[in-house]
Amino acid sequence: MKLILLGAPGAGKGTVAKMLTAVDGSVQISTGDILRAAVKDGTEMGKKAKEYMDAGKLVPDEVVIGIIKDRLAQPDCQKGFILDGFPRTVPQAEALDKVLAGLKTGIDHVVSIDVDEEALVTRLTGRRTCKNAACGQMYHVEFTPPKKAGICDKCGSELYQRDDDNETTVRSRLATYNQATAPLIGYYSAKGLVRPIKGVGGIDDIFNQIVGIVSAGTGCSCGCKH
Ligand code: AP5
Ligand code: MG
Repeated sequence: MKLILLGAPGAGKGTVAKMLTAVDGSVQISTGDILRAAVKDGTEMGKKAKEYMDAGKLVPDEVVIGIIKDRLAQPDCQKGFILDGFPRTVPQAEALDKVLAGLKTGIDHVVSIDVDEEALVTRLTGRRTCKNAACGQMYHVEFTPPKKAGICDKCGSELYQRDDDNETTVRSRLATYNQATAPLIGYYSAKGLVRPIKGVGGIDDIFNQIVGIVSAGTGCSCGCKH
C-alpha cells in the first residue's frame, strides 16, 4: 500500500501505521520518529529540530523534505509505505509529488482521520511510548495501559512521556495543524485521493476501516471504484 495518514496530533496515525505494516510489509515512515531519533543522537539536524518540536511548531520544510527524499529512495519502500506525519504543508505535498514522480510511483489513498480536539488533548497528555525505537509501541495510561505500569508489554523496555506531550505544547501543535496541515485535505481532495474516516472507537475498528479502503483498490471508500 502507498498511503498518507493525515490527521491532527493524537489522531492515531502512529498507532494504526504500526498495525498496517503487518498487512503487506509496507514500511511506516514517521518524520516525527526520525526527527526524535536525530534529537536523541544529538546530530546538528536534531539540535535545530528540537526548538521547533518543543514549541509545537513545524520543522522547516527543506529539512523534512530532505529526510523523506532519502527515505523513499531506500529499497524497503518498494513493497509500499505508510507516510505518518508527512506531508504537513502544501509545499511538502508538492515536493512529495515530485519525489514520487521521479521514482515512477504515486499515492493510492490519503486517509484523513478525524477526532474531536478535546479528545486529542486527553489522548496526548496520557500517551506513553516504548523507549526501544525498534518497538515504539504506544500506550495510553487510561485507554490502553500496559499490563505492568511503565513497562512495554511487547518488548519489556521502559515507557516514557514525549517532551511535547504536555498540554501547552499539545495546544500549540493543534493550532499549527489547523493552520498549516488541514489545508492538505483540500489539496488531496482535488486529486480525488481523500478517504475520510472517524478516528474514534476501538483502534481495531479504525484499522479495519483502513484495510477496507486499501483492499477496495484505488477506488474511493464509497465503493464506486473511480
Ligand atoms: P509527530 O511525531 O508526527 O507528532 P504528531 O503529528 O503531533 O502526532 P502524534 O505522534 O502526537 O499523534 P499520532 O496521530 O501518531 O497518535 P498516536 O497513534 O500516537 O511530530 C512531532 C513534531 O515533529 C511536530 O510537532 C513537528 O515539530 C515535527 N514534525 C514531524 N513531521 C513534520 C513535518 N512533516 N514537517 C514539519 N515538522 C514535522 O496516538 C496518540 C495517543 O492516543 C496514544 O496514547 C494512543 O494509545 C491513543 N490512541 C490512538 N488511537 C486511539 C483510539 N482510537 N482511541 C483511544 N485512544 C487512542
Ligand atoms: Mg505519531
